[in-house]
This record gives sequence, C-alpha cells and structure tokens, in this order.
Amino acid sequence: MSGTHGSSSSNWLVYTVKEHLRALCLYTAECLTTAPGKVVYAIKKTGVIDALGDGPKSADQLAKELGLHEDSLYRVLRAAVNMNVLAVEGAQPPRFRNTDVTSLLLDSHPHKIWPTVQWTVDDGYATMGEMEWVVRTGGNAFRKTHNGDSLWELLKTDPKRAEDFSRAMVGMDGMTTLEGVVLDYPWNRYGRFVEIAGMYGSFLARLLRRVKKAEGVLVDQPEVIAISRKMWSEEADKAELNKRVSFVEGDFFKSETLPKPRANDAWVMRNILHDYNDDDAVRILAAVRTAVGTTPVTLCLCEFTFVDEFADIRNLEKCGADLMVLTMLGAGRERTRPEWEKLFASGGFKLNRIVETRGPLCVVEAVPV
Ligand SMILES: C[S@@+](CC[C@H](N)C(=O)[O-])C[C@H]1O[C@@H](n2cnc3c(N)ncnc32)[C@H](O)[C@@H]1O
Repeated sequence: MSGTHGSSSSNWLVYTVKEHLRALCLYTAECLTTAPGKVVYAIKKTGVIDALGDGPKSADQLAKELGLHEDSLYRVLRAAVNMNVLAVEGAQPPRFRNTDVTSLLLDSHPHKIWPTVQWTVDDGYATMGEMEWVVRTGGNAFRKTHNGDSLWELLKTDPKRAEDFSRAMVGMDGMTTLEGVVLDYPWNRYGRFVEIAGMYGSFLARLLRRVKKAEGVLVDQPEVIAISRKMWSEEADKAELNKRVSFVEGDFFKSETLPKPRANDAWVMRNILHDYNDDDAVRILAAVRTAVGTTPVTLCLCEFTFVDEFADIRNLEKCGADLMVLTMLGAGRERTRPEWEKLFASGGFKLNRIVETRGPLCVVEAVPV
C-alpha cells in the first residue's frame, strides 16, 4: 500500500483522514499493526484523545486526569508528535493537542467512526494474523482464533460483543464515501423502501430523509427490531420519519416472515450478501423472491462490487472490505458482475444494472424473473 500513500507511514496516516473508509481500511488492515497505529489506538483507549478535545494539555495534566503512568505517557506522546499523530506547543512542559487524525476519533465527532475502527481491530486483529493460514487452507480464521465459534454465533451469545458490533455498523454511516450510495442513485423513483437486515435503520433513515414522500419498512431479527423501535421513538430527529416507518421482525431465510410487497417498492439490503457464501446468498435471494411473488418490485443491493475487476484491483476500499469478509467471516466475498449475474440467476432474479457511486459501494439493481 505504501506506494499510493507517500513515503513514510506517518505521512499516509495523515492522508487517511481525507476519506473515512480509507482511514478504516488503513487503520485496521495496516496502520494498527504498525507503531503509529498502536500509538493512535493506545491514546484513544486510554482517554487521551478525548481529554485533548478541550484543548492542549501536558503529559503531567493528562496522567493526573486519566490515572496513567506519566513517564510512559510522555514518551508515547512525544513519539506521537514525531509521527504527526499529535501536535505540540510550548516547551516547558510541552502541551499536546489533537490533529485532524485524532480529532476524527473523538467521541464527540459527529461521524462516530471510532467504534467501527475499534471493533474491526479488536475482532479483526487475531483473524488478520491468520492470513497465511487462510491462504494455505481457505479456512475460516475467525473460528480458528475464537474457539471454533463464528462471528455470528458469538454475537448471539455475547451481548457486549453484539452491542460493540452494532455501534461499529452505525459508525460505517459516518464514512463519507458510503454516503455516495444515498446521493448517487435515483431513490426518488420508489414509493417505499423495504430494508432487510437494516439493523437500527440508520441507512433507511437516510433514504427517507432523501425521499420525503416515501415510506419505509425496517426488517431485522426480533431483538434488533425491539431496540430499533425504541430508538426511533426516542430520537428527536426521527420524529417525522417515525410516521413513515414500520417495523417487521423477519428472517431473511424465511419468506413467510418477510413483509407483503407493494408495487413500486425497492427491497434494499446493504452489505448483507457479502457476508455469505454463494449457497447461503442464494437461499436469501430465493426467500426474498418468494416473498415478492408477482409484485413488480426492484431489488437494490448496496455492496462493494468489483465492477471492472482489473480497474478495481487498485481500489483499496473494495479490496480491504473483501479481505475483512475473507478473514473475519470465512464465507463472505465482495463480488464481481459475473458473480452477481450467476447468483441472481440461481435466486430467481435478473441483474438490471450496477450503478456506481462516488464511494466504493454500488447499487446492484435486480428484478424478479
Ligand atoms: C452486518 S449487519 C448489517 C446491517 C446493515 N444492513 C448495515 O449496512 O449497517 C447484519 C445485519 O443482519 C441482521 N441479520 C442477521 N441474520 C439475520 C436473519 N436471519 N434475518 C434478518 N436479519 C438478520 C443482523 O441483525 C444485522 O442487523
């Protein structure tokens, strides 16, 4: 990666802030395994970055405020300045302050990307470390490093992990490059969005804000829907949207649990099929196909798609996302156009077109056949 990001790792650490998803890929896939990345992670986890949100502070002040070891902290902060992670002012004692690299990770930052970075690192470190084994065997590195459990199995049994995962998914919305999928596709042609596995509905909310006349249906597992209902009824900024949305407890493998279709619906899934191997992805498509029956709906999959595989081989976001699903899920993959065509044919749909956006996500549009 270094060829595209300047000569030193600290230079490209700064560069990463320019695009949030790019930042995620680099922080997690490369940066956090290097010294600058470890420094960023340590000063975020120990509260330093957020403590500096109020303005510059010395190591002494920070150590007292946060209960840290002053000498070790000072040496890490000094290194952080050297790496362009933090800035410094004054001399006796030097007072450290945030840069645009660290400000992006503040809890108060509106884009909330830290939970995404943290989750990917915490859950992804060990699995990424098994890359050699994955290349040799094609096995599921997450299971190998988590006592045989898959990510999905652990999320069901570990509420803290499930909460971290949910916050990480919401953090994805803050990545500006993903916003392209809301802006660059003609969503206003639809009367209703049925978002399947939309979790807490952060993407659906964006669609409903974009298309003021549209209604929305949020479909997810019962425990997720319970939280979503509560969130949507409590969040002041969703008061108007709440009148246009309904919630359905549904299982995307079971057609009978999915909503009744309406003509002019868009049935949307964002980053769902990339989590599954072809057999399971076809099972999901087939269940959706049965649920929509003869109603003319459009299926809109928002996925990191290799539209032109040779051009996209240089696309860090797409290749980075594919590495994550390869190592963390074993089963998942980011797909190419021919792979989508084959999948749709097996699941009862036909690929209409792939709409590229300014970000790495495409809208892969299909219709029932
Ligand atoms: C990776 S998250 C993606 C969430 C959302 N689409 C997004 O882009 O942020 C996967 C979602 O799939 C949901 N899910 C998992 N299995 C499901 C199933 N069998 N039926 C419906 N939803 C399911 C989870 O609850 C979770 O909300």
